[in-house]
Amino acid sequence: MLTLTGEELAGRDTLVVGGTGNVGTFLVDAFLRAGARVIVPSRSPEKLERLRHRLGPKKAEHLVELTGNIGTPEGAADVQQQLRDLTDDLYAAAAAPASWHQTSSMFRAGFADFQNVIETRLYPHYLAAEAVLPLLNQEGSYTTINGPAGFGRAPMPGTGSIAVVAAAQAKLIEAFAVETGGRPRVNDVIMMAFLGPQGTRPGSPLTGEQVGDFVASLASSADQGVHQQTIYLHEPRQVEDALAGTFA
Ligand SMILES: NC(=O)c1ccc[n+]([C@@H]2O[C@H](COP(=O)([O-])OP(=O)(O)OC[C@H]3O[C@@H](n4cnc5c(N)ncnc54)[C@H](OP(=O)(O)O)[C@@H]3O)[C@@H](O)[C@H]2O)c1
Repeated sequence: MLTLTGEELAGRDTLVVGGTGNVGTFLVDAFLRAGARVIVPSRSPEKLERLRHRLGPKKAEHLVELTGNIGTPEGAADVQQQLRDLTDDLYAAAAAPASWHQTSSMFRAGFADFQNVIETRLYPHYLAAEAVLPLLNQEGSYTTINGPAGFGRAPMPGTGSIAVVAAAQAKLIEAFAVETGGRPRVNDVIMMAFLGPQGTRPGSPLTGEQVGDFVASLASSADQGVHQQTIYLHEPRQVEDALAGTFA
């Protein structure tokens, strides 16, 4: 079975927005395993400390913590400035800045809940892309993580708001991709995995490590033909293809 070798992003500066989260932790780990230095912005020094602890001292040597809030225009501008101060060659970025949301009924939860879900789950994707894309190496890549709720079947009751975010996120990222024209490459990954605070949950079709392997490969030159795609990542074969550079 293939896995990352440490050469894919060797010596590169990378960024994981949402890197303290369930998915983001695996993305940080994979970028580190691919040989990169990884910058992680977070609103919470405690969550950064937890991430450092979870990675262990050896991997954490190449972790760079940054305190900031990418979810507001002012916060995103501040994060952008901190990134400019940290690196003049940001090669790859991945973004998973949102969380699941479910109520018993979207309808009964009301407009304030809907508005909150849009503002806290979709806006950070616009703001992160707006702040980070201008800093990225033109040969590099920007990858966002999405979930299946916005695609395929009708949303389950209570998941309407997050389904709207997911569908809108895919179109938003596609729109950014059109505008970069592949320099850098921009893709959205609809991920079929169940990842929690303790790691991969039982029954998950993919492990967190496999998701990380896929996103790190996509970020590397191995998969440099992949751009402007909404990728439905659901089986290990896709991870193997990405690692082998044959995904496109
Ligand atoms: N978990 C899964 O199994 C799963 C499955 C499929 C799809 N997904 C998708 O993956 C994405 C991430 O999910 P998750 O489970 O990893 O969520 P999570 O554990 O709640 O993590 C969300 C991350 O987003 C960051 N974030 C949120 N707002 C931010 C802001 N304003 N500024 C900076 N960072 C912000 C948080 O960072 P700080 O709090 O540290 O600032 C946190 O690290 C979601 O879009 C979700 O739909 C997840």
